Amino acid sequence: MLIIRHLKKSYHYGSSDKPVTPILVDVSMELGKGEMAFLVGPSGVGKSTLLKMIYLEEKPDSGEVILGPFNFTHIKKNQIPVLRRQLGVIFQDFKLIPERTARENIALALEVVGKSKKEISSRVTDLLRLVGLLDRRNNYPDQLSGGECQRVAIARALANEPLLLLADEPTGNLDHDNSQSLLELLGRINVRGCSILMATHNIALIAQMPYRKLFLSNGKIRENEN
Ligand SMILES: Nc1ncnc2c1ncn2[C@@H]1O[C@H](COP(=O)(O)OP(=O)(O)OP(=O)(O)O)[C@@H](O)[C@H]1O
Ligand SMILES: [Mg+2]
Repeated sequence: MLIIRHLKKSYHYGSSDKPVTPILVDVSMELGKGEMAFLVGPSGVGKSTLLKMIYLEEKPDSGEVILGPFNFTHIKKNQIPVLRRQLGVIFQDFKLIPERTARENIALALEVVGKSKKEISSRVTDLLRLVGLLDRRNNYPDQLSGGECQRVAIARALANEPLLLLADEPTGNLDHDNSQSLLELLGRINVRGCSILMATHNIALIAQMPYRKLFLSNGKIRENEN
């Protein structure tokens, strides 16, 4: 479902054309439909960079990213919004809109794709139930705990039933218990059929989890070693 082949990416310093040491040298991986995997590696190794190329925030220097029927190299401009809808993304800092309640933050994802009020209302209720926040639905982000904010962000990311949920260090701002519950929630979401790729440098947190582990180091991925 997600196929990455020989991806290469270097960053350039400021206006200079000189490439710095490449971040991703030759990254290849596959993630099947309904699979969940962790992308693991120490800070600065390029995990976020790789995810950014999957959610089209950055372009690789070379190599291929294919998601379902979309080959990113050949994608037409008018297909990009369609492709983006196949992706849900969550981040360490949640990125919720402070002036909107939990319910409104989730609803926004459905408003922008033109769903009817009735559809939005019932879908948002389902999503709030899924993440266990029905009773907090009218709270603003600053009236929610970090763990609750991340669950709102997950509900929002899932609103349009993406093929793939990308999580970039989603436990980065959470304590141990909240991190564990977040992993459990991701597990439940995965069981419902959504593929998940989660980047983290917290190896201890995920060591015992029964999912694939993709280790990024020296610009390449190797699998399931410790
Ligand atoms: N836009 C950019 N321009 C130049 N260098 C960048 C840019 N974005 C990232 N880098 C560099 O690329 C390297 C990889 O960064 P990246 O954010 O992908 O790491 P990471 O594995 O996600 O780290 P962390 O675990 O701290 O989130 C770092 O050395 C970083 O400084
Ligand atoms: Mg990162």
